Amino acid sequence: MIYFDNAATSYPKPPEVFAAMTKFMQEAGGNPGRSGHRMATGAEAMVVEARNAVSKFFGLKDPSRCVFTLNCTDALNMAIKGVLKPGDHAISSVLEHNSVNRPLQKLADDKVITLTRVELNAKGAWNVQDVLDAVTPKTRLVALTHCSNVLGVVCPVEELAFKLREKHPHVRLLVDAAQTAGYVPLDMDLAGIDFLAFPGHKGLLGPTGTGALLIHPRIPSAELRAWREGGTGGDSSSPHQPLELPHFLEGGTPNTMGIAGMLAGIRYIQKKGSGLGHERLIIHRMLEKLSEDKRFTIYGSRIAGDKVGLLSLTIKDRDTAETASILDQAFEVCVRPGLHCAPYTHKALGTFPTGTIRLSPGFMSTDEEADRVVEALKEIAS
Ligand code: ALA
Repeated sequence: MIYFDNAATSYPKPPEVFAAMTKFMQEAGGNPGRSGHRMATGAEAMVVEARNAVSKFFGLKDPSRCVFTLNCTDALNMAIKGVLKPGDHAISSVLEHNSVNRPLQKLADDKVITLTRVELNAKGAWNVQDVLDAVTPKTRLVALTHCSNVLGVVCPVEELAFKLREKHPHVRLLVDAAQTAGYVPLDMDLAGIDFLAFPGHKGLLGPTGTGALLIHPRIPSAELRAWREGGTGGDSSSPHQPLELPHFLEGGTPNTMGIAGMLAGIRYIQKKGSGLGHERLIIHRMLEKLSEDKRFTIYGSRIAGDKVGLLSLTIKDRDTAETASILDQAFEVCVRPGLHCAPYTHKALGTFPTGTIRLSPGFMSTDEEADRVVEALKEIAS
């Protein structure tokens, strides 16, 4: 089996991730912060260690502002619905995943906010100037992807963050790092990013059901609304959600086993390095073999250095879903076809509604596997 669907979730996870999860459940599987016994304090110690590690990894100076979430969608909803208020204007782009599109669209449909979506450029990124031009005195939030999950092109979030801070300090910037966290280094303090959302199960190599929202210390928690209220382990006598972060946004028992796995994934990357360089070489290899073949249309930049390890294409006269099914059934190759939960991107590319075939190798993928995938695609094309 060849797994080229790492943009959906990374596979395989390093053995260290399973080992850390098993060890945690065996030795410290209590409820963190809820009881004072050794199993609960052991769980709390691991969660604190993970909060510190995640914060350091992304340049967040205050770990109490690392809020663990169920996934990236949860983190994005938390920021979008926490920040936007009636009468606000928000900016996003056609490159966004539905985890950004849908919460914003619902607020716009309910006439709570107005919404502008900026277009994509020839490379497959949004333009900084287009975003700046869309800012109005009512703009409260800019919610943008660091990298489209369809095109894989890394967008200039640092430049945008700097210019927004300089020209429009009242605007908050939310970055969706679903496809870049663990691959492309990002220091949210240096860059001046207000909210950073990401999953634990893609580039960070942790299990599904994990993620985080990092909130820059310049954002007062009173500026936000809690996405869900509930037990936090402390201040139980109060009828209200405590305003103190991370508890303000972290009601309910966290996914401790998942957090233990995500922490192990981060430690693994810190020890071995991210898979980005390796995956770019694989994409480069496939681009060299596919670019000149007229039966294939490749979307987004053809320079592997512009991208994470991801490539979207269509094959002349071949249906994308059927191609993916043949790849799976006849060649044992796993890829994701279709719209990738990013309909506006496909509308902009002219690939709506059938979408593209997305190939996303991982840190364990090999040149030989890449060559076998290319051969399979060529056989299907002919
Ligand atoms: N968001 C994930 C993807 O792009 C699931 O496939």
